[in-house]
Amino acid sequence: MKRFSEVLEMDIKQIDWNLAWQTAQRQRHLNRKAKGAVYWNRRARDFSDHQAHKSDYPHQFIRILNPEPGWRVLDVGCGSGTIAIPLANRVASITAMDFSESMLSILRQECAAKKIGNVKPLLAAWEDDWESLGIGVHDVVIASRSVNVEDLKSAVIKLNRFARQRVYVSAVVGDGPAVRRIINAAGRDYQPSPDYICILNLLYQMGIYANLSFTFHPLNRTYADYEDALNKSQWMLDDMTPHEEERLRNFFQDHLVRQNGSWVLPDVPPVRWAVIWWNVPDEDPSIT
Ligand SMILES: C[S@@+](CC[C@H](N)C(=O)[O-])C[C@H]1O[C@@H](n2cnc3c(N)ncnc32)[C@H](O)[C@@H]1O
Repeated sequence: MKRFSEVLEMDIKQIDWNLAWQTAQRQRHLNRKAKGAVYWNRRARDFSDHQAHKSDYPHQFIRILNPEPGWRVLDVGCGSGTIAIPLANRVASITAMDFSESMLSILRQECAAKKIGNVKPLLAAWEDDWESLGIGVHDVVIASRSVNVEDLKSAVIKLNRFARQRVYVSAVVGDGPAVRRIINAAGRDYQPSPDYICILNLLYQMGIYANLSFTFHPLNRTYADYEDALNKSQWMLDDMTPHEEERLRNFFQDHLVRQNGSWVLPDVPPVRWAVIWWNVPDEDPSIT
């Protein structure tokens, strides 16, 4: 009978998950524009409108988080407050960090409009020296859909250093909200992002036995018309050429169906986000 490692044709403990993640991130940035602050500044308004009004992701994430009233939370890559805004009245305070000034500006407006006083926006990046920015240790650190780093292992160590109790990160599962069919219809190859399994396996190799839950979102992509469908697909296809736009317009004309007064792309698979959380180890973990 064959051994486990022979069936796999490798020893899974030898897989360098940090390198796998790093390679995929680099490849992704070569194929698409690097997702720097300029990119997120440009997307801030649309992203924020979608999260605030059309997604129940925040609700599902907070249910998994199960917050305690005394928590001081650090929200890394907070965006316009997808989690921070609905979480604010459930915890003591939130340091909401992001490198996009436009995201933080929407967050400030939302806090003012909702009279939220315990969220402190902070312009900073993953790559910054958080200690010198005066970011202290918080009870809980979250990074919701924002682990946009090349060195995943260093990021985990950093998250552990700034969390007293627990860390929560969420990451894409499979294709995530991107629709492969739409990307292919424009004539482009689909470049998958590294998904949550890299994080989970790296944590395992670091001796961190993380918990895993999934949010679930049956996707119903509805559009007012073909142009609306084109506009709402732009984020999947940076810098579309006129030729690609034409291909996509034709695709929507052929595939959208009328449903309850809107246009719908049928058979879009549901989206899941993986929420991975762990208790902070007493000492910095190291790869075995
Ligand atoms: C997909 S959004 C997620 C926002 C929010 N946490 C949520 O779950 O909706 C990713 C966020 O991470 C921020 N971000 C990306 N790379 C970053 C970096 N290197 N440092 C700080 N923030 C970053 C972006 O500006 C953006 O607001």
